[in-house]
Amino acid sequence: MNSKILVTGANGQLGNEIRRICRNFPGLEFIFTDVDMLDITNPDAVSVFMEASRPAIVVNCAAYTNVDGAEESVKNVRKINSLAPQVLAAACAMQDAFLIHISTDYVFDGEATKPYTEDDETNPISVYGNSKLEGEEKIKTVFDNYLILRTSWMYSEFGHNFVRSIISLAKERETLEIVNDQIGSPTYARDLANCIIDIIIKSILNPKAYLPGIYHYANQGSCSWYEFAQEILDVVGIKTCKLVPISTDQFPAVAKRPKYSVLDTTKIRASFGIGIPNWRDSLRECLSSMRS
Ligand SMILES: NC(=O)c1ccc[n+]([C@@H]2O[C@H](COP(=O)([O-])OP(=O)(O)OC[C@H]3O[C@@H](n4cnc5c(N)ncnc54)[C@H](OP(=O)(O)O)[C@@H]3O)[C@@H](O)[C@H]2O)c1
Repeated sequence: MNSKILVTGANGQLGNEIRRICRNFPGLEFIFTDVDMLDITNPDAVSVFMEASRPAIVVNCAAYTNVDGAEESVKNVRKINSLAPQVLAAACAMQDAFLIHISTDYVFDGEATKPYTEDDETNPISVYGNSKLEGEEKIKTVFDNYLILRTSWMYSEFGHNFVRSIISLAKERETLEIVNDQIGSPTYARDLANCIIDIIIKSILNPKAYLPGIYHYANQGSCSWYEFAQEILDVVGIKTCKLVPISTDQFPAVAKRPKYSVLDTTKIRASFGIGIPNWRDSLRECLSSMRS
């Protein structure tokens, strides 16, 4: 098997992190694309690109990720999050390539009281969650050569995310109201990027350990958005902004979010022998990387 890996949506948080760590793996050949080079919603473009580049593995980091914006842009969201994964899966099937696709904790409704396993019933409560679940289902109708990794509350040094927003808002304001009744697991995109490469090396390029399917990956431990924000300010050392815990009802968001979306990561840890850091340790690592 060749070791050529096509990464789509490579200018986003996760794609950027894969780009950053790929130099640590000289045995793997990466092709990084984003929408200007390869629009994954265009079946002809995908098929021509796949034919020309012939990757063994496609890592789909491309998505429509604005959860509130999605409520008002249903057609476009479905095109990117639901139909494009099917297009990629079909192109992979044609060329016997493997597809690693990223999905989300927002496929669940948040009514659980313990971490969600891969076998728990899905029931998305937002357009974004619905579109991501539809993407998963469409891949499954095409072939079996896929790995769907559901992750949650992702942040990195790059792009739009909670960590960067909180730091910049806290520098400007004396108080910030943050939701304290939604619980999840913040996940550092670099940890997920390392996990993906680890799985590629241990499993996909080693057919004896070949284990396709759906897996949950999130940093260990959980917290509310308020606790997450407090930890960010503590680590950065911003003392001029006071955080005020509020309920979801008090925060006027366009899209509904699950109240509880902690992911059980037992399956991925056991199947691939992967260690997953605690979210507080990974946050420190990200913030220190941002500083340097
Ligand atoms: N962020 C989170 O909190 C979170 C949580 C759970 C799961 N996830 C999932 O994790 C994956 C990666 O998320 P992320 O935060 O890294 O996303 P991101 O930062 O929003 O990056 C997504 C990238 O996809 C590109 N893209 C959009 N439409 C495209 C198209 N038609 N063709 C090719 N590229 C296209 C975007 O380009 P433009 O910016 O130009 O549109 C962007 O560079 C996604 O599947 C997401 O659903 C994310």
